[in-house]
Amino acid sequence: MPAPSFSVRRARVKDVPAIQRLMAPLVDERILLGKDAAVLYAAVQEFRIAEADDGAVVGCGALHVMWDDLAEIRTVAVDTTWRRRRVGHALVERLEADAVDLGVDKLFCLTFEVPFFVAHGYAEVGEGVVGPDVVAELARSGDEGVAEFLDLARVKPNTLGNTRMLKVLRPQPVVSAPPPHV
Ligand SMILES: CC(C)(COP(=O)(O)OP(=O)(O)OC[C@H]1O[C@@H](n2cnc3c(N)ncnc32)[C@H](O)[C@@H]1OP(=O)(O)O)[C@@H](O)C(=O)NCCC(=O)NCCS
Repeated sequence: MPAPSFSVRRARVKDVPAIQRLMAPLVDERILLGKDAAVLYAAVQEFRIAEADDGAVVGCGALHVMWDDLAEIRTVAVDTTWRRRRVGHALVERLEADAVDLGVDKLFCLTFEVPFFVAHGYAEVGEGVVGPDVVAELARSGDEGVAEFLDLARVKPNTLGNTRMLKVLRPQPVVSAPPPHV
């Protein structure tokens, strides 16, 4: 019998309870940041869902735009019975395509799953992803994920042990020196 398959699609409002179910054990383990239902409904357009052939929601992930060239891949969660079957890969690939559509070049993520994200081209990164002017602007955001990106003191307990990672989708072209005059 062939292995059951899945497809990735845009999330609908009716998926929010399933997203909450996927997130709940990971929030309890402090692997993912907890989110109120109101926050999830407001963010539903950021989410992609992995749906099995039988209609079950088996994975989710979101892309949250932070600035003019920066977005975060967040809330990537795959049902434990569906892990290691490329669901996470398919979700990340779709979120990256969304980022390209939106014109975002840099993708940030904060994760314990370092090898998974390395396999998708992400590299560990320190501070200084954005300049001080942008930090000052982002500090005005009410989004908890942005606060984690900025590593604000009040969210430090949430980020303990996580790794900050970055992927540049479209590396800037190297500006070569003009040819010498002959
Ligand atoms: C991270 C997570 C989404 C991966 O989902 P998944 O569906 O099991 O991943 P995939 O099957 O697509 O794996 C893709 C690749 O990563 C590898 N991989 C997956 N999980 C891995 C792990 N924990 N360690 C090392 N490699 C891993 C797979 O072997 C595969 O490698 P390949 O491309 O060489 O075949 C899933 O483990 C999860 O839900 N974790 C908890 C939530 C979380 O931490 N999310 C990330 C932060 S937002």
